[in-house]
Amino acid sequence: MTARLGMHTLTRDRGLLFGGDYNPEQWPEHVWAEDVELMKAAGVNLVTVGVFSWARIEPEPGARDFGWLDRVLDLMGAAGIAVDLATPTASPPPWLGHRWPETLPVDESGHRLWYGSRNQFCPSSRVYRERALSIVTDLADRYAGHPALALWHVGNEYGQICHCDESAAAFRTWLEERYGDLDGLNEAWGTTFWSQRYGDWAEIVTPRRAPYLINPTQNLDWQRFCSDALLAHYRAERDILRERTPDTPITTNFMGLFKPVDSWAWAGEEDIVSNDWYPEPGDPLAPARSALVHDLMRGLGRGRPWLLMEQATTGVNWRPHNLPKPPGQFRLESLQALARGADGLCYFQWRASRFGAERFHAAMVPHAGADTRLHAEVRAHGQELRRLASVAGEPVPARVAMVFDWASWWALEERGRPSDRLNATDQLLAYYVPLWERGVSVDLVPPDADLTGYALVVVPNLFLVSDRDAAALTDYARGGGVLVVGPFSGVVDPRAHIRTGRFPAPLREVLGASGEEWLPAAEEVRCRWAGGAEFTAHTWTELVAAEGAEPVAEFAGGDLAGRPAVLRHRAGDGPGSGIAWYVATMPEPEALGELTARALADAGVRGAVPDGAPPPPGVEAVRRGEVLFLLNHGAEAASVPIPGPAVDLLTGAATDGPVTLPPRAVVALRPHG
Ligand code: GLA
Repeated sequence: MTARLGMHTLTRDRGLLFGGDYNPEQWPEHVWAEDVELMKAAGVNLVTVGVFSWARIEPEPGARDFGWLDRVLDLMGAAGIAVDLATPTASPPPWLGHRWPETLPVDESGHRLWYGSRNQFCPSSRVYRERALSIVTDLADRYAGHPALALWHVGNEYGQICHCDESAAAFRTWLEERYGDLDGLNEAWGTTFWSQRYGDWAEIVTPRRAPYLINPTQNLDWQRFCSDALLAHYRAERDILRERTPDTPITTNFMGLFKPVDSWAWAGEEDIVSNDWYPEPGDPLAPARSALVHDLMRGLGRGRPWLLMEQATTGVNWRPHNLPKPPGQFRLESLQALARGADGLCYFQWRASRFGAERFHAAMVPHAGADTRLHAEVRAHGQELRRLASVAGEPVPARVAMVFDWASWWALEERGRPSDRLNATDQLLAYYVPLWERGVSVDLVPPDADLTGYALVVVPNLFLVSDRDAAALTDYARGGGVLVVGPFSGVVDPRAHIRTGRFPAPLREVLGASGEEWLPAAEEVRCRWAGGAEFTAHTWTELVAAEGAEPVAEFAGGDLAGRPAVLRHRAGDGPGSGIAWYVATMPEPEALGELTARALADAGVRGAVPDGAPPPPGVEAVRRGEVLFLLNHGAEAASVPIPGPAVDLLTGAATDGPVTLPPRAVVALRPHG
């Protein structure tokens, strides 16, 4: 990530960005003229063009047809609408797979996947790489310097996985670089187990479908490799663009908490972090889940503004039953992203398709046309963003960090573990929700982040941890920080080997805890706060003894009755030492809320609403710069106290007392007077 280029490159002349994917190749050119007029009326200032246009630009191998794209860019340029120009390499034309079937991906059973959809390429295919880079080169040469070109969009939603022989060869090369020789690999993979010893590199394949459980380290390395192989391809495209247009920022669109791509590794390779995000309308946790993902995007950009590249105005078409969004909902979701650091709010897609696999997907201009309830909302939203222009570039300050790691996620969710009900992203969300409910802002960080400056660091699960990262967490708490660690953490090293001894081995001292057994629970687990109320936990328990820590909650029934369920430890001897919490079960939400409140009190952190009181249920409170955003995700009107006289940037209205928010309402309060 370069600091020179970023969202500011786009927003400094345009303010907040508003727009969407624009696929004019699906429409006759007279519709383009109408599109431009409608875009201008809606305040659209950014469109993503060309994402799936490879076959249109290169109808047969080596041919080029840029005429239509010239006209699209010229049209946008004349209208003052910036173009986020995509490299079209996410969907190769049928001729590529037809003539070079080795470019098509192979699944873990050895079946080739065919064209007729999209994403049908092998990330390690030499032919795919050559053909992709050739069209990217010509695209960059043609549009470098075009006044409409504002941003490059490399590929689309990277995540392809391929088990073909060419991928296996690339995997072997990657492994040779990692381990040097076969002894190193055999040691790391623990191949003395089940007679898996490799005597020749050629014997090593991708983790293809096998009769029973696959070697967990092989699987872990495979996931590392798949992310790296895609990243290598992304980089190759990016470098071509960078060389030809050094002043144009480059992005590729993430998909939230998406397992195949180690977003920490990727984000450092782009100028702008962008995300595609489709909250499920029927999911009661959607507002918190969205907030978490938005915070991740901000974290990936190390606090810098990010771009919401795609969202939907109403129902998508790829869920089994696609609930629509009620009026006001997409605006609420858009403003939520803005409040959490997005400087651009874009949609998939501008005009609803008449044909193709996504003809029932929502758009900014629906099939029924522009004279519709939905498009009127789009237009009003685009226009209101102008009133929020001063928010662009503002940071979202957070004193709480939450650690999340892809390698740990991959390693945790391997088959053959004590319980497959322990899921990394569920744990992350479980610990995030009580912070979100209290209006406490959180930065998502990788395990090797600099934790200085955070008052509270929450580690919902870090199953895999390196010695160095464990030592950094230890130092953090000893140096005065408040650390909360969730269950089944510190279990394996980066090779996915169990850390033997009492657990959580590398964090045992800082946590003052000493565990012997992981005990998945058959049913609900009763627990009790020390000297206080009972609460329920579920799914998971551990046999842990206090080794310096104070048991703040214990199990209240079953074989573990009287044993610690939650431990709190003064981490270190000096007056400046911090506090470390260990949670040896999965408390239900209310109890996790209580635990969070206590840890926040330890850390001296309060929420965005005055007095640190949690806002009413369903209301999200988050501060961006000096603007306090209040968003009502609940079904009831809510009244929220505010810190003092303020002006709502959305309406211009001055206010000095509690604010009443009907369902789906948003206020953006700038202190005044
Ligand atoms: C993703 C893709 C788009 C489109 C939408 C549909 O965001 O990038 O091309 O398929 O999903 O929701």
